[in-house]
Amino acid sequence: MYSESVTPVEAAEAADGRLRRIGTLTELREHPPTAAELRRRAVVVDAAAAGDGATLDTVPALFPWMEVWRDHVSYATGVWRCSVDEHEDDPLYTAYEARHLDFHTDMTRYLRPPEFTVIRCIARAVAGGANLVVHVDDLFAELERRARTDLIAVLGEPRTLNMDERHRNVPGAGERASGVLAVPGRPDVPSRIFDPTAATKAMHLDMSDADIARYEEFRQLCDELDNLSRRALLARHDVLAFSNWRFLHARTACAGGRRVTEISMGNERSR
Ligand SMILES: [Fe+2]
Repeated sequence: MYSESVTPVEAAEAADGRLRRIGTLTELREHPPTAAELRRRAVVVDAAAAGDGATLDTVPALFPWMEVWRDHVSYATGVWRCSVDEHEDDPLYTAYEARHLDFHTDMTRYLRPPEFTVIRCIARAVAGGANLVVHVDDLFAELERRARTDLIAVLGEPRTLNMDERHRNVPGAGERASGVLAVPGRPDVPSRIFDPTAATKAMHLDMSDADIARYEEFRQLCDELDNLSRRALLARHDVLAFSNWRFLHARTACAGGRRVTEISMGNERSR
């Protein structure tokens, strides 16, 4: 668990270890990214190491321990293609809009959201379109430093999940359907940082109006704490991977549109 004795300096040092870039095939072979690493830090695999094959071939080659998730209709093929078109007035998904996407975690409507997210660049935006990631533990350390016990309490309170039967994807879970927004120091607990107006489209936990106000304050703070987040501007065929339970992710505005990414999600086999 997160300790109150962690100082801001220690929190900053921890944040420095939150992104690794794998630039060569040799480094990839000698130090392949593991599930444990992705819970601790995000990894960018450069195109030079990731290759130019199809995304559905590339992901299992880079992360052989990952079982690619196919539960959601968007992920039935194992890959979701996200195409940003700035000229589209009413795109099918908000992720297709050219504007900045706020910090969130993916598939928060599921009792057990997939643990890992892999984003592969197919075509860069003319400008912008960087991916941002921030580790939950670094956010909590900062909240502690600011003595924001009110926000910490709101994030950690167990709440009823709003979910359809088809999202209750834990065998034997019965009626148990509660979750938290986020807790520090617990890699086994999914974060559920939904974006009610954009990326995840709905409220997925029952919350009072007062708690929603605190939650929105927290989400705004995530955007402001840019010293804690890590930024990856992916070139064609670069890959970014991280734990969807431990990292929140965002995307900067895609000036010029035309950004295409392919996204796979998955879980560690046998977990
Ligand atoms: Fe997302």
